[in-house]
Amino acid sequence: MTQPISGFSKLSKEEKIDWITTNYTQNAAQSKKILQTYWNQNDSIQQLHDEFIENTITNLYVPQGIAPNFLINDSLYAIPMAIEESSVIAAASKAAKFWLKKGGFKTKILGTEKVGQVHFIYKGAPNKLNSFFTYLKPILLADSASLTSSMEKRGGGITDIILKNKTNELAHYFQLHATFETKDAMGANFINSCLEQFAATLKKEAASFEGFSAQEKDIEIVMSILSNYVPNCTVRAEVSCPVEELKLTTELTPQHTAEKIVQAIKIAHVEPYRAVTHNKGIMNGIDAVVLATGNDFRAIEAGVHAYACRNGQYSSLTHAAIENGIFTFWIELPLALGTVGGLTNLHPLVKLNLEMLQRPSAEELMQIIAVAGLAQNFAAISSLVTTGIQKGHMKMHLLNILNQLGANENEKATLVDYFKTNPVTHHGVELQLNEIRK
Ligand code: MEV
Repeated sequence: MTQPISGFSKLSKEEKIDWITTNYTQNAAQSKKILQTYWNQNDSIQQLHDEFIENTITNLYVPQGIAPNFLINDSLYAIPMAIEESSVIAAASKAAKFWLKKGGFKTKILGTEKVGQVHFIYKGAPNKLNSFFTYLKPILLADSASLTSSMEKRGGGITDIILKNKTNELAHYFQLHATFETKDAMGANFINSCLEQFAATLKKEAASFEGFSAQEKDIEIVMSILSNYVPNCTVRAEVSCPVEELKLTTELTPQHTAEKIVQAIKIAHVEPYRAVTHNKGIMNGIDAVVLATGNDFRAIEAGVHAYACRNGQYSSLTHAAIENGIFTFWIELPLALGTVGGLTNLHPLVKLNLEMLQRPSAEELMQIIAVAGLAQNFAAISSLVTTGIQKGHMKMHLLNILNQLGANENEKATLVDYFKTNPVTHHGVELQLNEIRK
């Protein structure tokens, strides 16, 4: 059995690779080669990647594509998307094209409030803590002035701090619940620095507050951290058209198609098993753009799914309605994003992707990404209620199957042609490949 290792992070990259490939792979030489294949040929770019994280040994490529023809508030966008799933970009492009001729997507920012909390334990009378907080609040703001000055110059800063009594949920548990405006920055570092300052001020001021007993003075800070739940940092994106223009298939009338879409959305509102898959499809579009623009997709995922169950049950992020002959389809979701700071200033490809999107502000990026999610959901639901998902999905997956089976370029071309008019299954592709190899 391999022994634990200490000081791994201090080894050179080569030593790390030697260690991992020798101890955890069958063929160290071959494994090393694979790792090296994915190194960037440009040393300075590779070094940049090496320094993003600890213990870098290689890069994991994810393909990046472009979904063109997105008309958003009358401006035309080509959206970069980084994703490994075959059908996502094709679906986004198809939805973009469909809505292009129907006025495109309309979007609106509903809020941009970020949140952070200092969680602390106070063993004393809540009314005394309230009086202390009235005294404390201006000092919290004054003590963090040096941290907030440059954010304030950009129009952001701390928007409020409130004291929350959480003792009904957990004994002696209180919070400073702070809200922030962080403009074009996602703001995690800014928020966390402010919170840690609040915590230090809280602790120090409590220790000398005359109204407190010795026990009350001894506030314990448990932790200070931003929240990725941002229900007031939300965006809405919408498409609409007269029902008769909803021509997605020859098998259903536009009216029937619209009704089936509305029914599918209603199902995702009441049935969590469906809602999770429904929202997963939305996140296919969202995460792909979040990743391409250097934003934190885990933060987005966590916040979005929490929002999806804000009413007590996990539910659909999208909505659909038919009213007075007009079909409307929309999404509302929280997106805390940045277009400055973090990877956005560091990763050359991320910078280029932001340029392709015309250097959006954080608010503009929220709107673009909400649209990508809505488009993805429209494409998925349109397929699901008409032809089913597999036809399009397997067509896109065909090249993956052919690559898995080791098909050469000629064989691929022949079979891509063959499967234009035949249903794609793994077994079917295998049979057909054997057939042409005979
Ligand atoms: C697959 O990645 C996403 C879908 O399952 C979404 C959906 O069912 O709505 C097609």
